[in-house]
Amino acid sequence: MIGIFDSGIGGMTVARAIEQLLPEYSLVYYGDIARTPYGPKSPKTITDYSIRNTEFLLGKGAELIIIACNTASSVATLALRERFQVPIIEVVTPAASRAISSSKNGRIGVIGTKATVKSGIYQRTITAERPGFKVYSEPCPLLVPLVEENWLNKRETKMILRRYLHPLKDKQIDTLVLGCTHYPLLKELIQHRIGKQVTLIDSSIETAQYVKEFLLHNPTLISRQGQEEVKHSYYVSDCTETAMKVAQRIFSRPMELTLA
Ligand code: DGL
Repeated sequence: MIGIFDSGIGGMTVARAIEQLLPEYSLVYYGDIARTPYGPKSPKTITDYSIRNTEFLLGKGAELIIIACNTASSVATLALRERFQVPIIEVVTPAASRAISSSKNGRIGVIGTKATVKSGIYQRTITAERPGFKVYSEPCPLLVPLVEENWLNKRETKMILRRYLHPLKDKQIDTLVLGCTHYPLLKELIQHRIGKQVTLIDSSIETAQYVKEFLLHNPTLISRQGQEEVKHSYYVSDCTETAMKVAQRIFSRPMELTLA
C-alpha cells in the first residue's frame, strides 16, 4: 500500500494524480489538518509532525511513503530516511528535474511556503545539476490558508497573488515551479498572473510520474498489489466542512474523510 501525507488537503493533489496514474495500487492518505499550515513553523516542529504522520501511515500498512508536501520534503526527508526502513519519496526532486528540462533560458522561478523557500532546496537541487541556471524564489505564506479556506477564486486571493508574483514578473523566467502541493488549486489564477509564456511545473503531477517509474523498477515492493481489492483511504487529524468541500473539488467526487 502507498502511504501519502501532507500538512492538510494540498497533498490530495498528489494522491489524485497517483489514483489516476496507478489505479491498481491501494493508498492511504493522512492530512494533518489540525496542525496546518506547516510553512511558518520551525524545521524541528515540521520534522516531528512528519515523523508522527509517517508512523500513522506505517501503522495502516504503508510500504512506501510519499511526502506530498514541499515544506516537509524540504526539511524532514533526511530525518525520515534515517529513521524508517521503507522508501521515502519527496516532491522536490521530481519538480526540480522537470523544471530543468522545461527551461530554455535557464531562468526558473519557484513559489512556496516560507520554510521551503528558506531551506533553499530548489536553488540547491537545480544548480547542482545546472550550475549556470538562475533560480528566483518567492515565499507565499498566505496561499496555503486561502486554499484550506476554499478561497480559490476570490478577489482578495487574486490581489495577494498579484503581490506575490510581482517580483518574478521582471526576472524573465520561462518556468515557474509550484513548490507547494496546495498551489495546483490556484493554477489558473497563477498562470493568468504570471503570463502564458511561462511554463508551470506542478509538483503533484511530476511526483506521481516519479512514483510510477520507481514502482516499475521496484516491482516487488508493494507486496499485496493485485491480490486484494484496491482501497483508497483518506484520514485527517481534523475534519471541517471546508476541508470536505476542497477535497471534493480536488477529486470531483464525494469524499469520505476519516478523523484519526
Ligand atoms: N502542501 C504543503 C507544501 O507543499 C503546504 C505546507 C503548509 O502547510 O504550509 O508545502
